[in-house]
Amino acid sequence: MSAASAIVAALHFLALALGPPSVFLRGRALKGPLDAAGLTRLFAADNVWGIAALLWLVTGLLRAFGGLEKGNPFYLHSHLFWLKMALFAAVGLLEIWPMVTFIRWRIQRGRGQAPDTSSAAALWVLNHVEMGLVVVIVFVASFMARGFGTG
Ligand code: HEM
Repeated sequence: MSAASAIVAALHFLALALGPPSVFLRGRALKGPLDAAGLTRLFAADNVWGIAALLWLVTGLLRAFGGLEKGNPFYLHSHLFWLKMALFAAVGLLEIWPMVTFIRWRIQRGRGQAPDTSSAAALWVLNHVEMGLVVVIVFVASFMARGFGTG
């Protein structure tokens, strides 16, 4: 175990400290009035959610395949690792529509136009499905790290 493994593990946990609160706040912003202040809150939460996802991806791949933890074979042979990857990929797929929509809204606001936010209710549902998946991933990760689902 090296200092690098501790630092990358800490950053992986930091993503967990950022991810769930930001996706929760993004959901709240979607529920609230999407006026100028509401959009600012939505975009701020969306920024942090994006940072958390990137941090998860980079630090997670380093932990799994950077020789920092149990070594590649452990993860490649762990069913729960692959379940975790599938769940994370599902979050990524579910995020496509919100991501594209919020980028469009940001551009429209940048041009001084009011975005059409009629899809906010549906986006809220999707947001909460993503939030639920993240909770499941934490349990899968903890079981995986303890060797469940290996072999
Ligand atoms: C591409 C994405 C990801 C990869 C490759 C990845 C990989 C890893 C690896 C290799 C470990 C170390 C396990 C060990 O100690 O042997 C780990 C731990 C962990 N990961 Fe991830 N991860 C990813 C995304 C996520 C996400 C999205 C979450 C939460 C929603 C998450 C939560 C955790 C937690 C809580 C641990 C600590 C488990 C424990 O020590 O009890 N990871 N991850």
